[in-house]
Amino acid sequence: MNSRLTELFDGVYSFNSVILTKNLVPGKKVYSEELFHFNKEEFRSWNPNKSKLCAGIKKGLKNFPFRNGSNVLYLGSSEGTTVSHLSDVIGLQGKLIGIDISTRAMHKFLFLCEQRPNIFPVLGDANTPGEYRNKLEGIKFNVLFQDVSQPNQAEIFNKNAEMYLSKNSLGLIAIKAHSIDSSRKPKEVIEAEINELEKKFEILETINLEPFEKHHALIVGRKK
Ligand SMILES: C[S@@+](CC[C@H](N)C(=O)[O-])C[C@H]1O[C@@H](n2cnc3c(N)ncnc32)[C@H](O)[C@@H]1O
Repeated sequence: MNSRLTELFDGVYSFNSVILTKNLVPGKKVYSEELFHFNKEEFRSWNPNKSKLCAGIKKGLKNFPFRNGSNVLYLGSSEGTTVSHLSDVIGLQGKLIGIDISTRAMHKFLFLCEQRPNIFPVLGDANTPGEYRNKLEGIKFNVLFQDVSQPNQAEIFNKNAEMYLSKNSLGLIAIKAHSIDSSRKPKEVIEAEINELEKKFEILETINLEPFEKHHALIVGRKK
């Protein structure tokens, strides 16, 4: 166990095996995370059981393309648990657009957007990316992230990448095998999704998210 604060990636730290991000809004928690203080700076613990991206980090993710100033398109922002940590990482120079189809999730997400000036809500269906084009005008995205429970997860990701992600930029997708086909073996389902992703991406890494998430993989690709 390393009991020193260690920077794992730009803006992502580890302390005693706990993953942390520096709180953009000191004093404010977003969910049930813990607050830590080092050298008069505040950090928030990032829970790998509540965030597939953090689960990926715990499982040895090598490519973490989010940094200070990144512009991120995030599909499936939900109430903003993972988004809040990315908001910490990209800082005030960055911008994250969170797309979600659920009005209920969006309602809570709006409160988070009021507290954090670098995240923006879009109520929309990631299946039809052309419909939110006018809300994304003028933004050049460095990273695409997706976590939606849909049967055509790779297809949705490819469609958005084609429209909004430039060549050589990185995309990360959390694949939930059971949302695609619960009658087939998760490994086969994930392999079929990777085949679909390879139409638009060079796959850099595939991470099995167990024990944090059953039958889930986090896949990182570089846009062709
Ligand atoms: C597992 S949750 C995402 C959790 C979130 N990424 C996090 O880590 O905090 C999946 C989200 O995808 C959203 N979703 C499902 N289908 C969608 C679609 N077609 N377009 C946009 N969002 C969708 C759901 O409403 C839900 O909020």
